[in-house]
Parts: sequence; structure tokens; C-alpha cells
Amino acid sequence: MNASQAAILKQTADFVREQLAADASGHDWWHIDRVWRNARYLAREENAHLYVVELAALLHDIGDWKFHKGDTSVGPRLVGEWLRSAGVDQPTADHVCAIVAGISFKGAGVADELETLEGRVVQDADRLDALGAIGIARTFAYGGHAGRLLYDPEIPPEAHATFAAYQKSRAPSINHFYEKLLLLKDRMKTATGRRLAEERHRFLEVFLAQFFAEWNGLEEHHVTENCD
Ligand code: ADP
Ligand code: NI
Repeated sequence: MNASQAAILKQTADFVREQLAADASGHDWWHIDRVWRNARYLAREENAHLYVVELAALLHDIGDWKFHKGDTSVGPRLVGEWLRSAGVDQPTADHVCAIVAGISFKGAGVADELETLEGRVVQDADRLDALGAIGIARTFAYGGHAGRLLYDPEIPPEAHATFAAYQKSRAPSINHFYEKLLLLKDRMKTATGRRLAEERHRFLEVFLAQFFAEWNGLEEHHVTENCD
């Protein structure tokens, strides 16, 4: 990485930090910072091009469709404008825009393959932050932000066959575990990502077991105690 690339990364980090500072939906600057760090680690392990990976990790949530009435074209456009204004060369800018355009999860039944190693590295780094303790915290932060219930036993999870159906969902946050989070482990695209996802995946399962144990209550236990 040369000095001009390092300066562009610094400017980009400052730009993103300013844009996402106040986000309360689980897509704040510290999400970007964690993804950036995980992406650097994955890039080294997988021998991916670090400059492209770092730019895409920093910019991946700028203009997310969830904040632009479902419009998926806003993100890549804003990112393209930023890269041009920062003086990033055209092939790198095109590569970064393609990653940002394709990174998102789009439903259980919808393909989300990225064409390049750099894309797969950034996608895996983003998805690691959807798992584990942080993934759980972000899911309920997003749920509160979007006005979702925690859980409703009368609304079963769905396997969305199209991106449109996934985008339209108003389901409770617990459903998101079955509709996305628990599926991620087997959809990690790099060996390093797959390895790191294991423990975080197990933590989701432990959390869900405890959640349902508490949800279903202690009635039987109380009855036994009262009889003693
Ligand atoms: P991606 O980067 O795959 O597009 P998102 O930005 O859609 O991921 O989501 C990031 C995180 O926000 C999810 O991992 C989850 O924690 C939370 N989230 C997104 N959609 C929902 C939802 N419908 N219900 C609860 N949490 C959600
Ligand atoms: Ni993200």
C-alpha cells in the first residue's frame, strides 16, 4: 500500500464515521470499524488485495437500501461519487462499487455470490458481525429501530424466495435468526470466515435455547415446589 492509498483510506474512514455516527439500527460506525478489522484479518489470511478490501469494508453500508425506501441503487451511486471525489482510480472504484452492490443478504432462497476474492472477504467480514453476541445485540437494536416485536409465537419464520419478499417482511426479531442469521455459517465464502463463524453460530443457538426456555416459563417447576 502506498502513501496516497493510505491517505485515501484515512479520508474514507473519516467520511464514513461522520455519515454513520448517529445510526441506532446496528449499522453505526463501530459496526464498520469491526467489519474493517475483520476484513483486514481475512484479507491477510486469504491473500486478498488489501486496498480494495479496506475501501469496500469501510463503504459497504453507505446508502443501504433499508435507509432509502428499499432502493438498492443509492448505495453504489453514493459510493461511486465518494471514490471519484477522493481520487480513487477507476478499476478500483468499479471493483469497490460491485462489492457494495452485491454484499447484502437477500433472503434464504436468493443467491448472493460475489465474483471476486475481495468481495467474498468483505461479505464474510460483514456476516461475522451478524453472528455471536454482537449479532444478537444488533438484531434487537435493528428490531427496535424498525418497530418490530421481539417475538410472536403466532408468526412463523419464512424462507424468503425473493429479495422483494425479504425486504417486505415485518416479522419479529426472533424470526430473523431463522430467516438469516442461522443460515450464514453455511454460506460463508472463505475458509477463514467459515472457521470464525463456528463459535459465533453456536452462541446464537445457546441464546435461542435460553430465550425459549424463559419464554415457556417455569410453571411446572413452581407446581412441584409448591407441592413439597
Ligand atoms: P447485510 O449486510 O447482509 O445486508 P443487513 O445490513 O441487512 O445485513 O443487516 C445487518 C444486521 O441488522 C443483521 O445481521 C441484523 O442484526 C439486523 N437486521 C437486519 N434486518 C433485520 C430484521 N428484519 N430483523 C432484525 N434484525 C435485522
Ligand atoms: Ni454491514
